[in-house]
Amino acid sequence: MTGRDDQKMKILIIGSGGREHAIGWKLKQNPDNLLYFAPGNGGTSQIGENINIKVDEITKLADFAEKQEIEMTVVGPELPLTLGVTDEFNRRGLRIFGPGIEGARLEGSKAFAKKFMQKYDIPTANYDAVTCFVDGMNMLAHHRYPVVIKADGLAAGKGVIICTNKWEAEAALKDMLEANTFGEAGSTVIIEEFLTGKEVSLMCFTDGETIIPMETASDYKRALDKDRGANTGGMGSISPSPYYSDGLGNEIAQKTLQGLKQEGFDYRGVIYIGLILTPDGPKILEYNARFGDPETEALLPRLESDLAEILSATADKRLSECKLHWNDKKAVSVIITSEGYPGTYETGYEIDIPETKSTVFHAGTTTENEKTITSGGRVLSITALGTDFEEARRVVYEDAEKIRFEGKTYRTDIGLVQGV
Ligand code: AMP
Ligand code: GLY
Repeated sequence: MTGRDDQKMKILIIGSGGREHAIGWKLKQNPDNLLYFAPGNGGTSQIGENINIKVDEITKLADFAEKQEIEMTVVGPELPLTLGVTDEFNRRGLRIFGPGIEGARLEGSKAFAKKFMQKYDIPTANYDAVTCFVDGMNMLAHHRYPVVIKADGLAAGKGVIICTNKWEAEAALKDMLEANTFGEAGSTVIIEEFLTGKEVSLMCFTDGETIIPMETASDYKRALDKDRGANTGGMGSISPSPYYSDGLGNEIAQKTLQGLKQEGFDYRGVIYIGLILTPDGPKILEYNARFGDPETEALLPRLESDLAEILSATADKRLSECKLHWNDKKAVSVIITSEGYPGTYETGYEIDIPETKSTVFHAGTTTENEKTITSGGRVLSITALGTDFEEARRVVYEDAEKIRFEGKTYRTDIGLVQGV
């Protein structure tokens, strides 16, 4: 790594969640960096300036970056990527971290991603893609149960239904293809083989020429302890994944890079490889075109290298110069939610955050009259490091208890690692 710690940069971070606060927190380890968040949250306003522009207002984002002479923009969520924010910034000669619209389709369309995996011999579940109910029913005959039915497009984590019998599968197909529950996102549907195994998030930096896998992480998607309850945007994460052994995903990462190159995608950002470790070896469940949330909150506190330099090297296509350094600590990150999440919940409650040993990243918070107020389902993401998961758990849960707001809810089993 070339030593750039002494350099300051004006950086815009697009997004408003725990992931964006964590990215900002890491970048602010160089106190000279000037940070802007669009739109940000109650935590990001303490380390930078929140700008009132939404993540899908592409022209306004580019106008802001141009006017403020922003030197680097980091895209948090997928929506602006699939709307072409990177292409717009590139057209204006503005530096940005995140793939162009073509590469972002690896996340934006599951059918597109599956075709890509097939073409480049990347192991994934067997599947069929259909666009009408009758075809779907015919295709079901070729699948065993449980079967997985997925909406092709972005569905905020809600477009995947695991069906244990034909009637459930029929209902899911009807919902997506006839009742249009997912709108345009469900106009193509993937019918997929059900895989079993531990899930591992392998995020990689890539500039389209070089790919560098980060340390691994795993997220906890279900609302309740022991992986029960509804699917959520994530209730916590740990890093490293205790189920992953070094190098397991390297071949998949290299084949992915090969595919990006051969397709000619301008891909400069993070490619998130959602792996499942099956008895037949690692397979891909999904690609994301960005940092994972909440994995980033567990991962970045383990990164020793200068993130601004990695982002710059990626955007400037000189990632081969970078070597990433990680500490060998274990990270446990717990999401603190509003009661009722992922269903209905109330917001507007004042949050009391006393001094903590954990790092507190804000997600669904805002600031009113200098007070921090809940404004979303996932309110905070708090991360502790330890020499083992038990130590990290002890610290993070002591702090989770100390933080106060009306309706505070969290899982108690994040980082409880058994049988490894
Ligand atoms: P996806 O958005 O495709 O990653 O799916 C979300 C979640 O659904 C994954 O993290 C898995 O827990 C589950 N899932 C998706 N596809 C499959 C599959 N083929 N077999 C088993 N579980 C799956
Ligand atoms: N944690 C999964 C995701 O970021 O999509």
